[in-house]
Amino acid sequence: MDDLRVGDEDPRGLTRGAPVDVTFDGEPVVAFEGESVAAALLAADVRATRTTRRGGRPRGLFCGIGACHDCLVRVDGSGPVRACLTPVRDGMAVTSHVLGAGGPA
Ligand code: FES
Repeated sequence: MDDLRVGDEDPRGLTRGAPVDVTFDGEPVVAFEGESVAAALLAADVRATRTTRRGGRPRGLFCGIGACHDCLVRVDGSGPVRACLTPVRDGMAVTSHVLGAGGPA
């Protein structure tokens, strides 16, 4: 899914940020400065970042603007944050939002 990203020679003159080391549930994810956690996970083909309280159904990026809370993740052991509003940074350890581990679902 790297084709979703700005390339090294984008015809629009957009530039890609420097690569940063990020993990999701312990697995390395390719990410670049300036991306949101949700963008990096989408590019890595990660579609689900949490499950619903009832039924345990998968949820992930939906609105992309911070309104729906479907993209909740945890960062470095934090309470749940919205992946679509959280910029990546080097060394970030992102994990699925697990119900019962605190915070809203
Ligand atoms: S995708 Fe809706 S809040 Fe992040």
